[in-house]
Amino acid sequence: MKYPLERSNKKQILVVDDKPDNLRLLSAMLAQHHYEVRKALDSKQVVASVEADAPDLILLDIRMPEINGYEVCRTLKSNPATTEIPVIFLSALDDTLDKVNAFSAGGVDYITKPFQEAEVLARIENQLKIRDLQRQLQVQNEELSRSNRELEQFAHVVSHDLQQPLQTIMGYTQLIALQEMEAEDSGSHECIEKILCAGDRMQRLIKDLLSYALTGQELQELTPVDCNSVLQQALANLSIVMRESETDLQYPELPVVLGNETQLILLFQNLISNAIKFVSAEVKPKIIITVDQTTETDYIFSVKDNGIGIDSDHLSNVFKGFNRLHSSKEYPGTGIGLATCQRVAENHGGKIWVESQLDEGTVFYFRLPAQIETYINEEEK
Ligand SMILES: Nc1ncnc2c1ncn2[C@@H]1O[C@H](COP(=O)(O)OP(=O)(O)O)[C@@H](O)[C@H]1O
Ligand SMILES: [Mg+2]
Repeated sequence: MKYPLERSNKKQILVVDDKPDNLRLLSAMLAQHHYEVRKALDSKQVVASVEADAPDLILLDIRMPEINGYEVCRTLKSNPATTEIPVIFLSALDDTLDKVNAFSAGGVDYITKPFQEAEVLARIENQLKIRDLQRQLQVQNEELSRSNRELEQFAHVVSHDLQQPLQTIMGYTQLIALQEMEAEDSGSHECIEKILCAGDRMQRLIKDLLSYALTGQELQELTPVDCNSVLQQALANLSIVMRESETDLQYPELPVVLGNETQLILLFQNLISNAIKFVSAEVKPKIIITVDQTTETDYIFSVKDNGIGIDSDHLSNVFKGFNRLHSSKEYPGTGIGLATCQRVAENHGGKIWVESQLDEGTVFYFRLPAQIETYINEEEK
């Protein structure tokens, strides 16, 4: 195992040139400007030096015997351990500098000889600054992903563990409610009603939070899923509200998609339950589901309702979590359903969007990947 050398705070630059005079000249100039300079005369020395300890930047001569600078750069870029190091090419004025080749080999800039000191320094500074910012971004991204994962786990554990005690509270309250009904003179009837109502809301919130946390986990693999069965399971979960609201639902034969069944049930269920819920009083929900194969690889589904519609000012916000346009009194809910739907669509490499006008009903669309049939040749079987 190799240990990186002890490093100072100075930025390290590896200068690669097959002419010792050039090396000395550049090195002296860079050292004067507080860079730590390492030198290499050919491609072998470059690879050895970079592998021992990655420099912050490489100045790489294009014209070298045996392996030229472009090739060396390609080698460095193909190695994950060295791919991030910025490479600036050096070319003599009489070289026909192939700029396209320089960039396609992975270089970030080039300098032509004879050098102008100020230009060399400015180009180096520029690339070092970009590299620093990239590093900062990388660290921040990793930190963000980590804290997101932790939050997700936290939401999952908390909501899961809250379920049990809440169920106990609800169970005993229902028992008291029954005893209350027998003892008619008791005045606590209203209080018990309120407890049950609040408990019900809390149970719904926990259930929605759990679903949301579930869809935050990356899908391991997508398998063929029959959307007819998905829809039937979603409808079974909604059977009571469907019956009570006398919902009229129309849908065609649905296709097989590539997906995750549990998540797709959540998607259909949330959209249909919204379509049932967000209608004006006295209006019976009428929902139409359609599906279109737009390309060989995609299906676009739609769920259309005859509900209250969504104000154009709020359309872009409906997929944000905990965003509700109505009070719980008007339409009970948690504001997590559509955020969950968006995650499900995205987990499938798809998308969800909405078209709506106030009082005109709403159409939700989502795109899911089609299952591409693979025909196996009889002889290959
Ligand atoms: N079909 C719909 N018609 C009208 N408004 C809708 C519809 N679906 C969603 N909305 C609006 O978007 C908000 C977010 O939806 P959702 O995340 O499912 O939350 P919830 O159903 O818990 O309120 C809803 O509160 C509602 O204001
Ligand atoms: Mg909802």
